[in-house]
Amino acid sequence: MASPLPTLEHLSTAVILLDEQSRVAYINPAAENLFALSSKSLVGHPLQHALTHTDQLAAAMQQALSNNASYIEHSLTLGTYAHNKLQLRCTATPLQLDKVYLILEFHPIDRPLKLAREEQMLDQTQASRLLLRNLAHEIKNPLGGIRGAAQLLEQELEKPELREYTQVVIQEADRLRALMEKLLTPQHVPHFSALNIHEVLERVRRVVLAEMPTELIIRRDYDISLPPLHGDKEQLIQVMLNLVRNAAQAMHGQGDIVLRTRIARQVTLIKKRHRLAMMVQIIDNGPGVPEHLRDKIFYPLVSGRAEGHGLGLTLAQDFISQHQGSIEFESEPGRTCFTVLLPLS
Ligand SMILES: Nc1ncnc2c1ncn2[C@@H]1O[C@H](COP(=O)(O)OP(=O)(O)OP(=O)(O)O)[C@@H](O)[C@H]1O
Ligand SMILES: [Mg+2]
Repeated sequence: MASPLPTLEHLSTAVILLDEQSRVAYINPAAENLFALSSKSLVGHPLQHALTHTDQLAAAMQQALSNNASYIEHSLTLGTYAHNKLQLRCTATPLQLDKVYLILEFHPIDRPLKLAREEQMLDQTQASRLLLRNLAHEIKNPLGGIRGAAQLLEQELEKPELREYTQVVIQEADRLRALMEKLLTPQHVPHFSALNIHEVLERVRRVVLAEMPTELIIRRDYDISLPPLHGDKEQLIQVMLNLVRNAAQAMHGQGDIVLRTRIARQVTLIKKRHRLAMMVQIIDNGPGVPEHLRDKIFYPLVSGRAEGHGLGLTLAQDFISQHQGSIEFESEPGRTCFTVLLPLS
């Protein structure tokens, strides 16, 4: 069948039309894309010909037909031979038009699964942060005593060469205290105001370039038409600084970093749908996040660097969640991309 409605060809929504024998009469390009199928292989055949796990879909079609009204299935799983499984929202609408019997519209929703993972991670991170804060508090107090006692002991030592040992005690106590202080970062109440994300990124760019005066290139790929963001400037500077620093450190100061900003539409962040969001990406061409750390880099004290504390990303995630946003990454050798999404509406 030729395209019944030329506009269907151009829709970004995946649409399939079925005839009264539930055979595919038409599949639009968006649906071909979604299911990785060609129109030729499907038209004239029942959907089961090319899709698997069609029980739920068959039930939705049945509902629409028996009520003679649109039926929406909010969480439908369909298998294709190209992808394993797709999570979709599907609307089935009966229609008497020429031979067409049922219109099926599909919207991919890989978000809920991802969301569940994000939420679980956030819970775990928050729980372990609380534990660490308590632990840090307990460790910090006696450290003062240990340091003080070592200083007193040092003054009483007759042989100056023994000071080498008290110095080790003092220095290690200082190092531990610095770490504990980082863990105990005050639960700063965010101060929200209208801000320009590009000012934040420019500031971070300058700081990192000054820290690493080597062969580091930080390119800008800004969408300057972005509206102002309502956020805490200090927190966002800290987030971007941690991300850009991580990228620079992973590349040992040699390589390319891209700072990209874009508008994102219709995104779901922490269970809430936002019409508009801002996307910030920090992309580097370094070696990538070490394979064995990929599931845990947002956890506190997880670090792949000898001098790292493993707190930069934990903090970044904390701050971004205070902005109702999300942070995630993709990484392979030669390309690592951290994506931060922040709601604009
Ligand atoms: N862009 C990146 N490329 C490769 N690995 C990365 C990148 N960003 C993060 N990582 C890995 O994730 C780990 C955790 O990062 P995180 O910022 O939380 O801690 P850290 O940098 O080790 O220490 P710090 O507390 O000083 O930030 C890093 O040690 C590194 O192994
Ligand atoms: Mg870091």
